[in-house]
Amino acid sequence: MTEIVNPSRTWFTAMKDSTQEDWDALREEDVAFRAGLADRVLDHMRLLDDQGSSFHVTRLEHSLQTATRAYRAGMDDDYVVCALLHDIGDTLGVYNHADIAAAVVKPFARPDLYWMVEKHAIFQGYYFFHYVGGDRNAREEFRGHEHFDLTAEFCEEFDQPAFDPAYDNIALEEFAPAVRAFMAKPIQPVVGGLSGLSAE
Ligand SMILES: [Fe+2]
Ligand SMILES: [Fe+2]
Repeated sequence: MTEIVNPSRTWFTAMKDSTQEDWDALREEDVAFRAGLADRVLDHMRLLDDQGSSFHVTRLEHSLQTATRAYRAGMDDDYVVCALLHDIGDTLGVYNHADIAAAVVKPFARPDLYWMVEKHAIFQGYYFFHYVGGDRNAREEFRGHEHFDLTAEFCEEFDQPAFDPAYDNIALEEFAPAVRAFMAKPIQPVVGGLSGLSAE
């Protein structure tokens, strides 16, 4: 009789048959998987290094430039990382890229930065929505919100000017330590995944 070799540490094929022992093993493995999150995010950023449009810079270059401008303006590390990741949803969320970026940073970002990332697409529209059949003042529905000015400033100072091919961007690798530090530990309660029941 052939011995069945199980390379994993669990045996269940339907979750309803799983046991505490299974989940203890899976949670242990998840520690290592979580530790690789920042590097998977950095890998995904590299997917943005295509041109595929008439912008003068790739989406990665735009992201690097947004973060570089924020860094050189003296913004703190968490802000700079959010600036770097603000368009990470461009590849998968062609209709709602800011929602994806916001979801990526959500466990780690303080509330003002989360709101800034989530709403930046509407605020960025101030600079072009009127050219594509939209309302450039769509952001006005948020006028008076405590993070309105922060988000308007992000777009004005860092996002909308970050299409300059002559700008001296900081390389992605140089931002990596800050991304790893940002994603080292959740600060917001999250639900989902093996270890995401709450911020620890
Ligand atoms: Fe964006
Ligand atoms: Fe952007």
